[in-house]
Amino acid sequence: MLSYPLLDVRVSTPVLELRGATDELLDQLAPVVHAGKMNAEPSPYDDPISFHETDPDIRVVKWLRSIWRGRGNVDADRWRLYFVVVVDGEPVGMQDVVGASFSTFGTVTSFSWLSVDHRGRGLGKEMRQAILQLAFEGLGAKEATSDAFVDNQASNAISRGLGYAPDGFDRATRRGEPALLNRWRLSRETWEQHRRTDIELHNVDACRAYLPLS
Ligand SMILES: CC(C)(COP(=O)(O)OP(=O)(O)OC[C@H]1O[C@@H](n2cnc3c(N)ncnc32)[C@H](O)[C@@H]1OP(=O)(O)O)[C@@H](O)C(=O)NCCC(=O)NCCS
Repeated sequence: MLSYPLLDVRVSTPVLELRGATDELLDQLAPVVHAGKMNAEPSPYDDPISFHETDPDIRVVKWLRSIWRGRGNVDADRWRLYFVVVVDGEPVGMQDVVGASFSTFGTVTSFSWLSVDHRGRGLGKEMRQAILQLAFEGLGAKEATSDAFVDNQASNAISRGLGYAPDGFDRATRRGEPALLNRWRLSRETWEQHRRTDIELHNVDACRAYLPLS
């Protein structure tokens, strides 16, 4: 068992595992970030984000620092759990869940990316379903939200396909340029209609003990 129990939380599906993003796993994933394989065109990421850094060495350093900062900021207003997506023993991306005033609203949002080498074969949808299982079953969430630029076809298709309802638009910049985001919202009731029975949660008690959930 790790001395920081939140890093022991895992979600497993028949094809992938979300593992708490330990430094060891982040080290294994760093070459993907170094090679720029987390990117897509047009950029799916709003500003500011370490992924927009063009120098690969500095990009990895900024990426790690952003995760370390996020891990350390755990309060009622905002917390974030970072998971590395592991397929057949190989780290291929990340899937995070964020609670914003969770104890008041019960709302989570999610953020994810996959190495370009592993996209387009259902893993993105699978990892979103895994994190929703953690949020609704493990953490007792009431709803989940997601944002994606209107031209991010994969992310929008995942939200639509999992029953999220359109919830208007937002604006953000990416690489300094303004762009439109779709907002999506999934209620607990709708998730229950789509919920999977083959996704397992491990060591979730750590979330109840160490996150401000109520
Ligand atoms: C978003 C991301 C994680 C999705 O993962 P993925 O493995 O490529 O997606 P999947 O294979 O599970 O496909 C999910 C859906 O998107 C559709 N899709 C995937 N790529 C697509 C594309 N390039 N164009 C149109 N539709 C696409 C699939 O057909 C599928 O739709 P369906 O469920 O209706 O059949 C991945 O594309 C990625 O890392 N993108 C860059 C980072 C990013 O956009 N992160 C999200 C920020 S909001």
